[in-house]
Amino acid sequence: MKPWPYPLWLAHRGAGKLAPENTLAAFRLGAGFGYRAFECDVKLSRDGEAFLLHDDTLERTSSGRGSPAEQDCAGLARLDAGAWHSPAFTGEPLPRFAQIAAFCRANNCALNVEIKPCPGEEARTGAAVAREAARLWAGADMPPLLSSFQPEALAAAQAAEPALPRGLLLDTLWDGWEDTATALAVVAVITNWRCMNRALIERLHARGWRALVYTVNDADVAERLIADGIDGIITDAVDRFRP
Ligand code: G3P
Ligand code: MG
Repeated sequence: MKPWPYPLWLAHRGAGKLAPENTLAAFRLGAGFGYRAFECDVKLSRDGEAFLLHDDTLERTSSGRGSPAEQDCAGLARLDAGAWHSPAFTGEPLPRFAQIAAFCRANNCALNVEIKPCPGEEARTGAAVAREAARLWAGADMPPLLSSFQPEALAAAQAAEPALPRGLLLDTLWDGWEDTATALAVVAVITNWRCMNRALIERLHARGWRALVYTVNDADVAERLIADGIDGIITDAVDRFRP
């Protein structure tokens, strides 16, 4: 296997339970707990800007309405992405990808960028996020790890910026996942923790791929996976698991 520069522990959606997910406030909170690696969800506005959001619609985690793919970035940047979480985070903006990149580079933090396209936007999002990531991390020692559940998005990222590392996300071990990971020339496979065990970790390592899991919030599960040789653990529980 190639050298692996990323820390074992990654804070999920920034550190998006104790602070509003996928906001700069969440990253700051995670860094305060000692986290030096983060996962976040990135999609595209109508005008092709990359920004952070998990859902296909704005309602749950912002003051906006409807699909973000039908709105321009300037409008999205004015939304409140913190008040839904708790009053202390009122006014927290919905961040552009570039703002999160600046935070990570300034604080020497690793980033796992989950490419999370709105429906029908897979290839456009994969290519645009990869190009933007390559620009934002130009000359960096630790490039962001691009991941996605959508092979089409990863294929577009691969075509746009082949040198950026990629990871295939798997919620289940669907038929053909290994061939897909091979075609995408991934460096890592990131599964739901329920799919992961020592045999799968060994199988991934034998292929030269790192083994990562999401979203582990239980200490017994984390201990077992660490003993089995896991390479990365994405967690919400930044106050309980201290890197
Ligand atoms: O990247 C792993 C994890 O974030 C995938 O699940 O739904 O939280 O984006 P989700
Ligand atoms: Mg995610």
